[in-house]
Amino acid sequence: MQTQRLRIAIQKKGRLSKECQDLFKRCGIKFNLMGERLVVHAENMPIDLLLVRDDDIPGLIMDGVVDLGVIGENELEEVGLERAALNEPCDYTKLRRLDFGGCRLSIAIDKDEQYTGPRDLQGKRIATTYPQLVKRYMDEQGVEFSPCMLNGSVEVAPRAGLADAICDLVSTGATLEANGLKEVEVILRSKAVLIQRTGEFSADKQALIERILTRMQGVIQAKE
Ligand code: PRP
Ligand code: ZN
Ligand code: MG
Repeated sequence: MQTQRLRIAIQKKGRLSKECQDLFKRCGIKFNLMGERLVVHAENMPIDLLLVRDDDIPGLIMDGVVDLGVIGENELEEVGLERAALNEPCDYTKLRRLDFGGCRLSIAIDKDEQYTGPRDLQGKRIATTYPQLVKRYMDEQGVEFSPCMLNGSVEVAPRAGLADAICDLVSTGATLEANGLKEVEVILRSKAVLIQRTGEFSADKQALIERILTRMQGVIQAKE
């Protein structure tokens, strides 16, 4: 069910939400995020903001439920691989890379363990929230591993005896440090991106998207 209003999905709470809200505000979209609403109507444009969990954004775009979304490339690629494997819709258009949400997806092990290369991970159990990306990397390296899927607290898995290594997002490195882990391989460098669903758009929606993109270009350039 498509509406006349442009639907934009953004993360409700987390590493992208603040900068994401600022970006759309600087693009001239007026909205008030008070309360616990899922859908927020912009006051000055035919736009609805959907405040959802970041994990849900790729699927909302790939199923054509929303028009635009802002998401980290890590999450986007993970969901894309998962959906492709299940023969579910996984198409989208990347409109532009954004200037925030920078992080890397890395493999980390106990800081006291020695490491010479990916072969050292042969047969190990790796805890992660991104099993598809880990599998793609390990397949490329020709190294076998066992997954341990965790949606949170990945960094405690080795100490808890659940896994030998982890593959998780790293930005400052503080989480690894605090858990006695060291980064040994970077498997993906990620930033936030603006994505669009595939398929037809009304002329009005298309024009609005182009207006937002032009403004966004100006906002991002002004910061550089
Ligand atoms: C990620 C990741 C680490 C942390 C790394 O979690 O899972 O916990 O960030 O960042 P650092 O290197 O700056 O310490 P996130 O904040 O995305 O939240 P989540 O673990 O609840 O998903
Ligand atoms: Zn998430
Ligand atoms: Mg975390």
